[in-house]
Amino acid sequence: MALERTFSIVKPDATKRNITGKVIDRLESAGLRVIASKRIHMTKEQAEGFYAVHKERPFFGELVSFMTSGPVIVQVLEGENAIAKNREVMGATNPADAAPGTIRADFAESIEANSVHGSDAPETAAEEIKFFFSDDEIVG
Ligand code: PPS
Repeated sequence: MALERTFSIVKPDATKRNITGKVIDRLESAGLRVIASKRIHMTKEQAEGFYAVHKERPFFGELVSFMTSGPVIVQVLEGENAIAKNREVMGATNPADAAPGTIRADFAESIEANSVHGSDAPETAAEEIKFFFSDDEIVG
């Protein structure tokens, strides 16, 4: 399979606990390469735009508030089958359902403070990468 790119966020609960290295190590150990990365504090407008697909869901306000509660690391990951591989390494959204050995099983605190985000499909990966990165910030 050809190289694929996906978008990843190390969320505020992980930056707060100073475990970004541990989280990113899991991704790199799975064969995913970080080809773009920046530490940012998302604005309310950015978080609302990024999560617009969830705007009708009851937790939308809490999600935006959590994602703007502290710094995050946004990154582009590249590798074979990167989208599925990233989601496999992350584990289920709710850490209570996440398989042993996954990032969320080992580090996440709750369905909200679940340490990482990863794109779920090629179209969303492309959109999400574009939301945060220009072409010249991605160095493959
Ligand atoms: S998924 O992966 O899209 O199927 O997961 P989903 O359950 O639809 O959740 C989408 C994102 O919303 C977050 N989430 C919540 N935040 C706050 N409170 C509650 N109750 C809650 N439930 C889900 C969840 O962490 C997902 O964030 P991302 O960044 O997309 O992983």
